[in-house]
Amino acid sequence: MTDIAIRNALILDGSGAEGFEADIGISGGMIESVGTVGACQTEINGEGLTLAPGLIDTHAHDDGAFLRHPDMTFKLSQGVTTVVSGNCGFSAIPFDPDADARAASGGILSGLGGNFTDLSGYFDAVLEAKPAINNMMLVGHNTVRSLAVSDQKRAPSEREMQTMQGHVEQALEQGACGFSTGLIYHPGRYSQTEEIIRLASLAGSANALYTTHMRNEGDRLLEAVEEALQIGDEARVHTHISHHKAAGPGNWGKVTPSLSRIDRAIASGQAVSMDVYPYTAGSGRMIEYFNLDRINRDLAEVIRIASCPAFRAYEGRMLKDIAAEQQRDITELTREILTAPRGENTICIQFIIDEADVETNLRWPEMMVGSDGIPDLRGKPHPRLYGTFAKILGHYVRDRALMSLPEAIRRMTSLPAATFGMRQRGMIQTGFHADLVLFDPALVADTATYDEPQTLAQGIDTVIVNGKLAFQRGQHQMAGSGQMLRYRETAHGGPKL
Ligand code: ZN
Ligand code: CU
Repeated sequence: MTDIAIRNALILDGSGAEGFEADIGISGGMIESVGTVGACQTEINGEGLTLAPGLIDTHAHDDGAFLRHPDMTFKLSQGVTTVVSGNCGFSAIPFDPDADARAASGGILSGLGGNFTDLSGYFDAVLEAKPAINNMMLVGHNTVRSLAVSDQKRAPSEREMQTMQGHVEQALEQGACGFSTGLIYHPGRYSQTEEIIRLASLAGSANALYTTHMRNEGDRLLEAVEEALQIGDEARVHTHISHHKAAGPGNWGKVTPSLSRIDRAIASGQAVSMDVYPYTAGSGRMIEYFNLDRINRDLAEVIRIASCPAFRAYEGRMLKDIAAEQQRDITELTREILTAPRGENTICIQFIIDEADVETNLRWPEMMVGSDGIPDLRGKPHPRLYGTFAKILGHYVRDRALMSLPEAIRRMTSLPAATFGMRQRGMIQTGFHADLVLFDPALVADTATYDEPQTLAQGIDTVIVNGKLAFQRGQHQMAGSGQMLRYRETAHGGPKL
């Protein structure tokens, strides 16, 4: 007998086509039928609601969260059923249990620990924690380079290069969907283009992806785009540009020439894709954005503290307000925060993006959505962690009408599933995995704000992950049915097809 039937909902199948009415039957984790469904154990009435494939977050930093917060409420509650982790050059694997845990993956995954060293071991550890959603992994350049060269500002020796290649190859063999860089961060910023081409070409040979947080997203954005395209071209690899943006008021508007350049590359036959997060602030490890000898005052003025182990009282506050209150110079305050014990783990939010650029990005016909959420739940994280997908559906689709609802669903389901090599996901079709979200298009909205960032989206009725009821009317069902996805292969730990 069928496990679950969802009846009377309007179906958006993920292809971008207009909705149609049908009943959906789910059995053994898969979509068993689309059309008419007979008797079944669990009936869900979708009257007045829309049913779509579960949403896919193409840009996540959830490697550590899968172990610390396997309920993954911040993603599941938005209708996200699959994330791609290991972005911006930082990945949980390869992992060296003997290395300083705080330095692991450049600190963005700090505190990550476990009894694993490679992708297979990591997947086993996560499955043991019964994750609520699916995860797919990239192997990160910063992580691999710290293991092989530590944080040294130089080119790798040939031997170190081989160590890095070995790590990347192993991850790809075990099912990573690609190789990621964060060329703005340590130690990736010490690399020459040639080093990246050599490593990215391994992803190319595996027919996997090269994803990049480019070397520059501000004054030298267009040069950084050239480098990303050169790497993709010479390494013969599909290039995915992460969180496309133009940072800093002096650069606002540059997303337009950048998109034109990428359009030209695509027209000439190069494989390039992109994602964006729908906010005007970025977020990351604060120490990466400052030179302690020459603190950038303009940047400090637009920074808000997300989490700060040294000064918890600063969390959720703008640096300029703290400086004014303490009658201190803002650069001195910045230096104090960053040089305090564990100051290097401070996560900040920087208001550096123009809203018009966010909309220009979202209008680009193949733009995907990646939250770039940083799941440090102790402070006041960037609201994109809890809000990204509901904000797209509510604000940008319904209220601003930047694209139709079926098209938005396509960009957050079948398009990323095809790009990132997720087999039989991202569509409502017989024989596909039953990852589904039932929502109310009239009500869906993000509620997470910079002041109150850890609040659930509205209008998400039911989320199903691999055929199990995972979330219903605000209640987490603790189904623990997430799977670890191997690039274009059967999901690890899931039913063998
Ligand atoms: Zn990034
Ligand atoms: Cu990122």
